[in-house]
Amino acid sequence: MLIGLGALWMHVCYNPPTMNPRYYIDTMGCQMNERDSETIAGVLEHLGYAATTDLQEADVVVLNTCAVREKPQHKVFSKLGEVRKLKTKRPELVIVVAGCVAQVSSQEIRDRAPYVDVIVGPRNLSSLADAISHHRANTRLMTNCEEVPPEGLPAHRADSVNAFVNVTYGCNNFCAYCIVPYARGREESRSPEAVVQEAANAVANGHPELTLLGQNVNSYAGVDAAQEAVDFADLLARVDAIEGLKRLRFTTSHPKDTSIRLLDTMRDLDTVCEHLHLPIQAGSDEVLTLMGRGYTVDEYLQIVQAARKRMPHIALTTDVMVGFPGETQEQFEDTLSVFEQVRYDQAFMFIYSDRPGTRAAGYADKIPRDLQLQRLRRLVTLQNTISREKNEYLVGECLQVLVEGPDRKCPDRLRGRTRTNKLVIFDVPQAAGPTCRASALRGRIVSVLAEEAFLWGFTGQLAQQ
Ligand code: SAH
Ligand code: SF4
Ligand code: F3S
Repeated sequence: MLIGLGALWMHVCYNPPTMNPRYYIDTMGCQMNERDSETIAGVLEHLGYAATTDLQEADVVVLNTCAVREKPQHKVFSKLGEVRKLKTKRPELVIVVAGCVAQVSSQEIRDRAPYVDVIVGPRNLSSLADAISHHRANTRLMTNCEEVPPEGLPAHRADSVNAFVNVTYGCNNFCAYCIVPYARGREESRSPEAVVQEAANAVANGHPELTLLGQNVNSYAGVDAAQEAVDFADLLARVDAIEGLKRLRFTTSHPKDTSIRLLDTMRDLDTVCEHLHLPIQAGSDEVLTLMGRGYTVDEYLQIVQAARKRMPHIALTTDVMVGFPGETQEQFEDTLSVFEQVRYDQAFMFIYSDRPGTRAAGYADKIPRDLQLQRLRRLVTLQNTISREKNEYLVGECLQVLVEGPDRKCPDRLRGRTRTNKLVIFDVPQAAGPTCRASALRGRIVSVLAEEAFLWGFTGQLAQQ
């Protein structure tokens, strides 16, 4: 199904409960949830609420949840326990559970946390305003209402240099271990016009860097107003043309749909950054088949080679799981050896976690927890060494950094990222003057001399501009 610009969002008449009502959002999970939280914030502000970071003064508390592994799912229920205490003191507090847990475990939330007022899945965000408005009449919105993508809803964007723009919603891949297709529904591509319009607005509103989001951006299949098919490489070219855009990123690329044309496009478009997040998940063909990933290790390595041939300094990052049901020691060692071969800049490494209702949850031969942990430790140790070595190699170089603002921990210093998505924290010489203050440099690309390398990136000095 394709989505156009969408019907305009209907304004709901609503009187907030107090004079200066406040909302508090706790966002867990991935960038999709971060983007959804911006929509939730926009909807609540439209209803007259203002943001607060103090849970104690909130009139609406939203938990935007993640169900990808057991741990974040558990976290939701412990957080709900905390919020319940507030509601005991202030019964008028509205508690909203949004996100992927809301979608896949709405019954469990109803049973275990009956004090929750609104349960709204990622595909029901367009009902949020109504749900909050009607909540006082005690009609609790549950997730079984009609699913509508969050198209055309207001959004309050985070105050960051980067802005997220969805290109697809949902996922059709049903990898054996994954809950996401159940939580986010079938894949739908937004129209290119909707993507470009949202992207252009974000750039005009002070976000010179964009990240296009989808569970598998490479399967984007848009159709424009002239009924022309637009694939992801075409879409990148359309977004690249937006005036004022400095850097364009995207995530996630699924290896089975990563084409040579996409790599050529990445190389050829100025704004597209030299960074490819290409989740491998496992380094053994047998495990990849059981996971239902749709590629072999060899095919994966060919993409890596093709990417490096076109962009020699490209940063490669990945997601991987250890301890998938039936994973033998040898298969795990195959993952180690692929990591040694590819030498990723960074990897998100997970212990396989059973998600009820997925195919893998029914697989036999579950790996004991201590063995899973042991494997994770070995992989993390290897990858940390590689990440550090790759960063150390760049010490002494001048890096092109897009400035994000003051560092959170040490506000005298500035922070930003390279095109390869490495974090750089740097000092500005006292004598540099007002043109080099955080407010003046935010959103600008500056040269930073990399002085020390860490796992997470670099520290350095602003080089002469
Ligand atoms: N669409 C992306 C992944 C989204 S989920 C892709 O296809 O690559 C983010 C990551 O969480 C996945 O890449 C995977 O490594 C991890 N993950 C997903 N389900 C998991 C599970 N059941 N147990 C452990 N890790 C999981
Ligand atoms: Fe999950 Fe696979 Fe879809 Fe990624 S591609 S979201 S891992 S089902
Ligand atoms: Fe993202 Fe977690 Fe949902 S990873 S898609 S918030 S299950």
